[in-house]
Amino acid sequence: MTKIYDVTALSPENIRRAQTLREPDAIESMERAMKRVAEAARVLAAGGLVVFPTETVYGIGANAFDETAVRRVYAAKGRPSDNPMIVHIARASDIGQLTQMLSPQMVKLADNFWPGPLTMVLPKKRSVPSVVTGGLATVAVRLPDEPAAMELMRLADCPVAAPSANLSGSPSPTEAGHVIADLDGKVDVILAGGRCRVGIESTVVDMTATPPEILRPGILTADMLSAAIDADVVYGSRSTGAAPRSPGMKYRHYAPKAEMIVVEGQRDRVKAEIERVKSLNERIGVKVGVLLFDEQAYIEAAHDFYARLRALDAEGADLIIAGALSEKDGVGFAVMNRMMKSAGYNIVHV
Ligand code: TXA
Ligand code: MG
Repeated sequence: MTKIYDVTALSPENIRRAQTLREPDAIESMERAMKRVAEAARVLAAGGLVVFPTETVYGIGANAFDETAVRRVYAAKGRPSDNPMIVHIARASDIGQLTQMLSPQMVKLADNFWPGPLTMVLPKKRSVPSVVTGGLATVAVRLPDEPAAMELMRLADCPVAAPSANLSGSPSPTEAGHVIADLDGKVDVILAGGRCRVGIESTVVDMTATPPEILRPGILTADMLSAAIDADVVYGSRSTGAAPRSPGMKYRHYAPKAEMIVVEGQRDRVKAEIERVKSLNERIGVKVGVLLFDEQAYIEAAHDFYARLRALDAEGADLIIAGALSEKDGVGFAVMNRMMKSAGYNIVHV
């Protein structure tokens, strides 16, 4: 049986009300939530699976040094075991458990972006189980910016291997309800927080490459990383044909149940094409959902993208017609990376 613990009281806003403003209600609800996190930490330390919120998406975590527990994560998600996991830590100093040596660039990125939505691929220490890294000589490490996650890891006192808490292939979970829909009965504890603030997964940067190479785009862009280290950071080729260095890229990913088409082009034409395809399909009885974000509202698009896919599925859409975002290298680009995978690269240009 899965225990579901409400930890919404550990939102940054409620913590501020408790710790800075000393509001009794906030203090009480926060303390209750902390007890639930402590209970979850005991489960995690004892080899259990705990789902927790992060600022990006929810993660399904196991003690990274407990191979049996890590294998259970693959089983719960239905995920191929050659797809490596990100190891999450509570303090930057815990990185020493995972990698041997830090370059000045790695230190700069950690200083600038942790806690936050950045994952660094680093040379792995021998002691990190290869089941975590899918047999690779590297390990992906991240320090999430979410109080419940940090407290969980601090109390469990171990690095936590955690992929996104969705069934393999389906949209990543950005709300507790998404996690419950996918994983109820398959994990020991779900820490139910609120909506994830970022909404798409962390930027993954391979620090073993020269120059550092972004394997998965996110809201932290190549330009931002590059400015922090005062050196080039490049986007890696995300071709799905060749054996990719971020093996997660080769599976159909983030996909809704509905068929999905992306329409790309000048804004007015995109809108007109969406309407045209929509009415053609509705005339033959197809239920159509439209996914069109406001122009240049890239942060909002990231925040809402997965939740919108799940909502359209819940409404019973047979076909989702999405408008492409036009940005080529920033947050919009990161959302497009997911949109293209969701649609299985089914795109029309107008
Ligand atoms: O925001 C996130 O990163 C979320 C939250 C839970 O932290 N986690 C997440 O995990 O998205 P997951 O497993 O869904 O995606 C991990 C990605 C995959 O594309 C995987 O292939 C890549 O990171 N990855 C993990 N370890 C790697 C490694 N050693 N080398 C290259 N890529 C790696
Ligand atoms: Mg994932």
